[in-house]
Amino acid sequence: MAAEHFTLFCQLISWATILVLTADVQQVFNHQSGSIWCTIIGSGINDTQISRNHAKNHKDCHLSCGADPACESTNYIPSKRLCEMNAASHSDCPRSFVQRNDAIYTPKFKTDCRHCVPAYSNFGESSHLEAHYAFEGNLLDSTSAGRNGLASGEVFYPRGVCGRAASFNGHSKIDVDAFRQFALGSRFSVSAWFKRTNPDGYQGIVNAGYSEDGSWEVRMTDSAGGTGIGGTVITSHYEKVWPYNVVKVSLNDWHHVIMTYNGSQLLFYVDNELQTGTSDCCTGEILSKDIPVTIGQAGRGHAMEYFFGFIDEVKIFTTTLCPEEVDKMFRFPCTC
Ligand SMILES: *[C@@H]1O[C@H](CO)[C@@H](O)[C@H](O)[C@H]1NC(C)=O
Ligand SMILES: *[C@@H]1O[C@H](CO)[C@@H](O)[C@H](O)[C@H]1NC(C)=O
Repeated sequence: MAAEHFTLFCQLISWATILVLTADVQQVFNHQSGSIWCTIIGSGINDTQISRNHAKNHKDCHLSCGADPACESTNYIPSKRLCEMNAASHSDCPRSFVQRNDAIYTPKFKTDCRHCVPAYSNFGESSHLEAHYAFEGNLLDSTSAGRNGLASGEVFYPRGVCGRAASFNGHSKIDVDAFRQFALGSRFSVSAWFKRTNPDGYQGIVNAGYSEDGSWEVRMTDSAGGTGIGGTVITSHYEKVWPYNVVKVSLNDWHHVIMTYNGSQLLFYVDNELQTGTSDCCTGEILSKDIPVTIGQAGRGHAMEYFFGFIDEVKIFTTTLCPEEVDKMFRFPCTC
């Protein structure tokens, strides 16, 4: 895997000594200040760059990030003496953290090298993509995990936002049994495109079970002529409210929804706009239950609330998505 090609180490701000701890992890301690910072060679954050300037070395690049309140990390390209400043760090934007053989990545704030290790294992866009249903004439999961769906009722594959989509007639749905008892942990995101064609009642888009019977859900409501949409995750520290209930999505048009959770904050985006809701509704791990993921109906725990319309590009992640990643997925539905 790509991650094995990388060397991770941490360096002193004073550049005093390099102490090799293991084959992969090196730390350098500044014995004067006690501060440590981390660098990951052969990597960088794409998509969040706020500036690109000359810097004579890696240290100057890192220090200039420290002096800029908008900077959260840098990619330094030694061959070009180029310092790219990023608005996010690898923990904010794990999916944008990519292999870049020309670059050295350094977050602004890292006081502990261990904080780099999760990022190190985050390499590769697909590593936290647990399933992707593109609906190109079938219900296959296009990731290597092969968590394929199974339809009940008639599902067709008309044109969607990217290639084909799945169509639902108010009596059809898709279940994915491979998600039964799936441990999502405390970092989770779901992304989907949808076009609702019938205003009546509540209608489930994608979920792992219905409301508190489930683990998470994105569902449309009957409010304002069927234009309401909301969502939640269910954790052991869940306040038993539907933290997002947004009224804004027109019928008969394609819209994009992303719900993303990081263990203490739940965010809900509709068409690339962050919605207002109870973002601190939930903390800790999402509850794992013996229920499938359902697309096109309210899910296990409710017999009805079927979807009428079209759903496309459903993606389920065990990572948090940052605003830059949401923006990219909204603007480039076929590539991101
Ligand atoms: C990231 O950006 C660099 C420089 O623009 C580019 O060479 C590289 O291909 C990009 N990597 C990915 C995975 O997008
Ligand atoms: C979740 O994100 C918020 C906002 O960025 C941050 O304050 C919080 O510490 C994060 N929680 C975890 C557990 O990472």
